[in-house]
Amino acid sequence: MLILGIESSCDETAASVIKTDADGTQVLSNVIYSQIATHKKYGGVVPELASREHLEKIAGVVDEALKTANITHSELDGIAVTQGPGLVGSLLVGLNFAKAIAFATGKPIVGINHIEGHVYSIAFEFPPPEYPALALVVSGGHTNLFLIPEPEKYKLVARTRDDAAGEAFDKVSKLIGLGYPGGPVIDRLAKLGNKRAIIFPLAEIKEKDGSGLSLDFSFSGLKTAVLRYVREHQIEPVTNPENPGSQILDLCASFQNAVVRALVRSLRKASERFQPRTILLAGGVACNSELRAAVQKLADELKIPAYIPSPIYTTDNAAMIAAAGYPKLLRGEHLGWDTSADVSLRLPNVDVEAAKPKQKQRYRL
Ligand code: KG4
Ligand code: ZN
Repeated sequence: MLILGIESSCDETAASVIKTDADGTQVLSNVIYSQIATHKKYGGVVPELASREHLEKIAGVVDEALKTANITHSELDGIAVTQGPGLVGSLLVGLNFAKAIAFATGKPIVGINHIEGHVYSIAFEFPPPEYPALALVVSGGHTNLFLIPEPEKYKLVARTRDDAAGEAFDKVSKLIGLGYPGGPVIDRLAKLGNKRAIIFPLAEIKEKDGSGLSLDFSFSGLKTAVLRYVREHQIEPVTNPENPGSQILDLCASFQNAVVRALVRSLRKASERFQPRTILLAGGVACNSELRAAVQKLADELKIPAYIPSPIYTTDNAAMIAAAGYPKLLRGEHLGWDTSADVSLRLPNVDVEAAKPKQKQRYRL
């Protein structure tokens, strides 16, 4: 099956063509136009500018994806487009463009939840996972831990109560003058600092019903702790990122370590509780070198495989959206012409009983 994927939920205009069949999934093209340069000076994504830029770029990006894949519209078997969650103006650009192609060519089109798309970022470099799987999806907008008892069934077992992990990286980066996006630069500088220089305590989050400690995450307290540390130690914002000084390096290393500890603590507890057969790591923060190493170490301890995709697939891209579209297109689903973008689209949550492992079996994603 040849699928065109289109993604425009935040600040990347992306299109991809994948070829998927019983033998696996091949990425024929993966075009990503990043708007980082536009938003950098504002220290974060400006929704108005984002939608305007998507509008300017979408046609060229889709054309390039088809050309690189050497595919014409008529050869496509279907189109998969991000329907939500995301920024409404941005989502609408991709969704309407995809609908227009589907309408003009008569090809089927399916709407994809962006978070589910991230889960499918493992489709290109790994064999089908064994279920149940635990998927940690960590990005600029989301921090979710899903139990996946079988393909396309999700049980949300932990989520952030406040900031997303990537958002914490971006806010701390802005605070110390390292700009947007924060993740890559903090990751680079953290390698040069001492992660034990400052011990930031991890938030203890209680279950809402008072039944004990929750698996949920919270990063806003950590961000405030960094702010307090910066003030108390009179740390000035960085002016030369090539030589930020040891205080900043130690701060980056200690902050990043706290985020990684919090994420892996919950992943470890969930692994004990749900006994997954595979761990999946996805989303922009999955590029983080310390997180990748820590998740791999946990999986090694548990003697199960960790599927940690290459950075090009963990950050926003359209190949993952196309891959998530495959089972839906195969079933003959079709997005209604009047279906609009959904900024807070959720994945249907399977109940705990259904989420319990049933039998040892290999499924294709
Ligand atoms: O998945 P993504 O491209 O977009 C969203 O759906 O949000 O994730 C972007 C986020 C940003 O917050 C960025 O700072 C973070 O991923 N990020 C990283 C790294 N690379 C990107 N965070 C930590 N370490 C990295 N190496
Ligand atoms: Zn994303």
